[in-house]
Amino acid sequence: MGAGGRGWDWGSLLLLLLLAASCTGRNVLLLIADDAGFESQVYNNTAIKTPNLDALAQRSLLFQNAFTSVSSCSPSRAAILSGLPQHQNGMYGLHQDVHHFDSFDQVWSLPHLLSQSGIYTGIIGKKHVGPEAVYPFDFAYTEENSSVLQVGRNITRIKLLVRKFLQSRQDRPFFLYVAFHDPHRCGHSQPQYGVFCEKFGNGESGMGYISDWKPLYYSSEQVKVPDFIPDTPAARADIAAQYTTISRLDQGIGLVLEELRGAGLENDTLVIYSSDNGIPFPNGRTNLYRSGMAEPMLVSSPWHQQRWGQVSQAFASLLDITPTILDWFSISYPNYSIFGNKIVKLTGKSLLPVLVSEQPWATVFSSQNHHEVTMYYPMRSIQQQDFHLIHNLNFKMPFPIDQDFYISPTFQDLLNRTKSGQPTHWFKTLHQYYYRDRWELFDQRKDPAETQNLVSDPKYREIFQQLKTQLLAWQWDTHDPWVCAPDGVLEEKLNPQCWPLYNEL
Ligand SMILES: *[C@@H]1O[C@H](CO)[C@@H](O)[C@H](O)[C@H]1NC(C)=O
Ligand SMILES: *[C@@H]1O[C@H](CO)[C@@H](O)[C@H](O)[C@H]1NC(C)=O
Ligand SMILES: *[C@@H]1O[C@H](CO)[C@@H](O)[C@H](O)[C@H]1NC(C)=O
Ligand SMILES: *[C@@H]1O[C@H](CO)[C@@H](O)[C@H](O)[C@H]1NC(C)=O
Ligand SMILES: *[C@@H]1O[C@H](CO)[C@@H](O)[C@H](O)[C@H]1NC(C)=O
Ligand SMILES: *[C@@H]1O[C@H](CO)[C@@H](O)[C@H](O)[C@H]1NC(C)=O
Repeated sequence: MGAGGRGWDWGSLLLLLLLAASCTGRNVLLLIADDAGFESQVYNNTAIKTPNLDALAQRSLLFQNAFTSVSSCSPSRAAILSGLPQHQNGMYGLHQDVHHFDSFDQVWSLPHLLSQSGIYTGIIGKKHVGPEAVYPFDFAYTEENSSVLQVGRNITRIKLLVRKFLQSRQDRPFFLYVAFHDPHRCGHSQPQYGVFCEKFGNGESGMGYISDWKPLYYSSEQVKVPDFIPDTPAARADIAAQYTTISRLDQGIGLVLEELRGAGLENDTLVIYSSDNGIPFPNGRTNLYRSGMAEPMLVSSPWHQQRWGQVSQAFASLLDITPTILDWFSISYPNYSIFGNKIVKLTGKSLLPVLVSEQPWATVFSSQNHHEVTMYYPMRSIQQQDFHLIHNLNFKMPFPIDQDFYISPTFQDLLNRTKSGQPTHWFKTLHQYYYRDRWELFDQRKDPAETQNLVSDPKYREIFQQLKTQLLAWQWDTHDPWVCAPDGVLEEKLNPQCWPLYNEL
């Protein structure tokens, strides 16, 4: 365009628009609960009261088919913050203490990428990933320098930290990750506060006081027992305690959103709510069954009000969180490699299009290797529409049990009942739970509880082959070192391929 003309030249117009976009300050608040599931009113559980999640849902699109990529805390958080499955980012199991897992030093994480683009980053609550150089935050109050009970469960403290973060951002766009420790179990680490820490801060003698929390109590008769949990008095009491802890999570979410509103930021902040993995009950956390993988998910964008209050059937993965947030900030993913010269590509997608109109997304992938260091039980899975295929690579081993879940009243009761030959009121036996087939294929429309393995049913041969092919293709795309297991060896030099072992599998 000629200089001196009255019209705008497109270059300056674009620049102005970009400046305007950066001045409006598009922020992100990511709320991740710890081991939360569908125990909320927004998912039609009528036994529990969660008014704050309800209020958020009115400003959100609610996902009915959201899934974690791995049913374990640190691996899931690393996948959320890197967009890469555990076998690609290196966080194979739990990060802390003797477990000591870390992501690879080369990984470009979400906080790192955002920080490079001038976005102020903060984390409040449970971090549980490392190393620090891969997951850096400008503002950090986590178990690494505070008590996890304080930064993860004391909602008054969390509220004050959110306020401090918002004050310290100095008008920069921000990414704030509030990682609640509720409603995680606690019988393993802090039993004095109850099995779900449901007494922490309730004002009773020795429990301390959380002034912003009005605990809600439930009787064993009131709770809804999900169909994958034994319906026993022990499990019902366990769930009632979990509900009380969820009341602290729910009120904490209300306080955090109130801080956002009070700071005048609710109309330019994307809010995402989800959880890291399945609930800590039999068939839940540490499993890739639907009961261990399905997650609550609310996405609230002030710029996309057209679908507020609606329910989406589109499949979403926690691997989509990184691409979604990068898309929100218009930041592109770098070209780099972790293993050799293989370029890393995100296999997740931005969820922003579904906030405008329903999308046909119907596939998610998952990958699990460990929970605790001793719990090596590699699994890979694909869910597509009604079908769910799980590959249990080391299927000849018993499925491992974690310490926290082992001592839970529900599991102790299940063990006792099994040992003494009493009815377990469970939909499978312990033997079935421990010993799994190599391939498990379920038709969720006909069998939502995933009880019937269809893998050897000739009617499903074609769908089995199709899913297997897609799962393997995803494993190659994500540079999965386990891609040839358990019946082959991956020879990577020259032309990477699987060589047969003739090990009778
Ligand atoms: C809850 O139930 C209502 C009424 O049956 C239904 O329209 C809605 O989709 C359900 N929500 C979820 C999350 O399942
Ligand atoms: C935790 O680290 C942050 C820096 O991110 C620092 O500002 C804060 O004072 C530390 N908190 C504690 C309790 O050490
Ligand atoms: C929660 O945090 C507030 C503010 O820091 C503090 O006054 C209160 O004692 C804490 N409650 C518990 C149970 O630790
Ligand atoms: C956000 O928008 C709503 C309505 O669109 C308005 O009532 C509210 O005051 C706005 N909040 C701020 C902080 O601007
Ligand atoms: C990414 O980097 C590789 C190796 O450095 C290069 O061959 C490739 O062309 C780059 N791709 C893009 C899209 O920049
Ligand atoms: C299970 O049995 C043990 C030993 O008999 C007993 O101490 C424990 O209370 C029982 N637990 C449950 C949940 O029934």
